[in-house]
Amino acid sequence: MRYRTATACRTCAATSPIIATRKSSGTVGRHGDLLDRMLTVPDPETGEKLDDLNIRNQILTFLVAGHETSAGVLAFALYEIARNPEIAAKAREELAERFPGQTHPTIAFDDVSKLRYIRRIVDETLRLWPVAPGYFREARHDVVIGDGRYHFKPGEWVLVLTLQAHRDKAVWGEDAEEFDPDRWLPGRQRDQRAYKPFGTGLRACIGRQFAYHEVMLALAHLLHEFDFEHDPGYKLDIKEQITLKPSGFKLRLSPRTR
Ligand code: HEM
Repeated sequence: MRYRTATACRTCAATSPIIATRKSSGTVGRHGDLLDRMLTVPDPETGEKLDDLNIRNQILTFLVAGHETSAGVLAFALYEIARNPEIAAKAREELAERFPGQTHPTIAFDDVSKLRYIRRIVDETLRLWPVAPGYFREARHDVVIGDGRYHFKPGEWVLVLTLQAHRDKAVWGEDAEEFDPDRWLPGRQRDQRAYKPFGTGLRACIGRQFAYHEVMLALAHLLHEFDFEHDPGYKLDIKEQITLKPSGFKLRLSPRTR
């Protein structure tokens, strides 16, 4: 595979000076951020530290993996909420209970874990619209999975298509295609093996908790502050780049009258 050189890629070119500036600042280790950790923490087994190229690639991965994905989930969640006013109403009820009498509450980091209905909206959005719709794995040794049905030899690849698994009627029931946040109520049976929007195992998404937080915070703010009006004539069109997103979806927001 050919990689573009730093000079051919504007984002790469913008990233390298960030690393160089930090290194020459004499303040490495005092920022407590991810860049500090990548510059200072050695591999526990080899004792090696990451070189600059590796750090640059990590930063770019974070930018790409963390930006499109969360934005796509937010867009799909808004698409579903706009078409289901009763879901929007339930979410607003939850917010009103959490922030009684407050017209413009500051929804803080710690509030997020208490917004259980909004969490269910996000979980259900990630089920129907896993914006990173699959992931690959390579067999390290001879292995048989799926109750003896699938045999893989070392080096063989499998694509786990979450977009399909998340809509499998055998797992999710006859209403698998429907958007129903209450599917995620505690006590309702689910097979977690069929729900993998963030991948699985050691290489699963490192930004998962961050993503939940940012999507839920944004959603809670939008639901609390605005009424939504969508174009009833809009037909969902999925744009597939690295991730999925609803293409051409527009929402008119107006300040809520309370
Ligand atoms: C809702 C939003 C997100 C979704 C649905 C998502 C989904 C995924 C998936 C499916 C993978 C592949 C996992 C695997 O192969 O098992 C992945 C990897 C990754 N994600 Fe996310 N992601 C999201 C948000 C984020 C955010 C916000 C960040 C960073 C701030 C991030 C950083 C990464 C990184 C660095 C990897 C590669 C991990 C590795 O290879 O070890 N993601 N993500």
